[in-house]
Amino acid sequence: MSGLFGPDGDGTTELPEELRDQLVPTWIATTGEVYQVEEDNIATATLGLHPHLDDLLDDIYLRRLHKAMLRDVWRWAGRYRRHDTNIGVVWTEVPGAVRSLLDDVRAWIASDTRPADEISLRFHHHLERIHPFPNGNGRFGRITADHLAIALGGTQFSWGAADGLDTASLRARYLSALRRMDRDDGDIDDLLVFARS
Ligand SMILES: Nc1ncnc2c1ncn2[C@@H]1O[C@H](COP(=O)(O)OP(=O)(O)O)[C@@H](O)[C@H]1O
Ligand SMILES: [Mg+2]
Repeated sequence: MSGLFGPDGDGTTELPEELRDQLVPTWIATTGEVYQVEEDNIATATLGLHPHLDDLLDDIYLRRLHKAMLRDVWRWAGRYRRHDTNIGVVWTEVPGAVRSLLDDVRAWIASDTRPADEISLRFHHHLERIHPFPNGNGRFGRITADHLAIALGGTQFSWGAADGLDTASLRARYLSALRRMDRDDGDIDDLLVFARS
């Protein structure tokens, strides 16, 4: 599966107590162990999954999908965040921001002026800026962008997999493309190239 990018660091970091309390499996002690069970859960939940466009534009479906992807790992899977984070809107604004993004996507599709890749990647970038969930936003957002591209008649993205980069360089290129969109008034060119390379 592309677009997962591996764990931060070498995975041996002990999880802080307050994160361990949020886990479903009680045996997990390190960030690498969390990442592995997350990856297994995500793979099982998304295997052969091809959501219809109407589902992808439905905030209840999206929460159900996040829940399916991480329910074996996190107790809050599928629930929007209830605290503020570095990146992301004020937490009380998450539900409205997601619905308004989905309205925008519907309008982009209806106006038929943007290619499917651009619609899917703009959806992805806006979703990351909202940052609806306590964690897993990146992986959830890349998978739902893949699903949207497919539902619009295209194919799933490769998210840099063809470039032969190591995980750290892959993630750096991806984040710099997202930051360029943050910065340069939505300039999507780097992300369009990265996601198809
Ligand atoms: N400056 C930024 N602009 C837009 N999105 C960002 C930025 N920085 C990080 N992100 C997004 O946030 C994700 C990390 O959020 P997180 O909830 O930890 O997801 P995951 O656990 O799947 O990595 C990144 O993969 C990226 O999609
Ligand atoms: Mg994370």
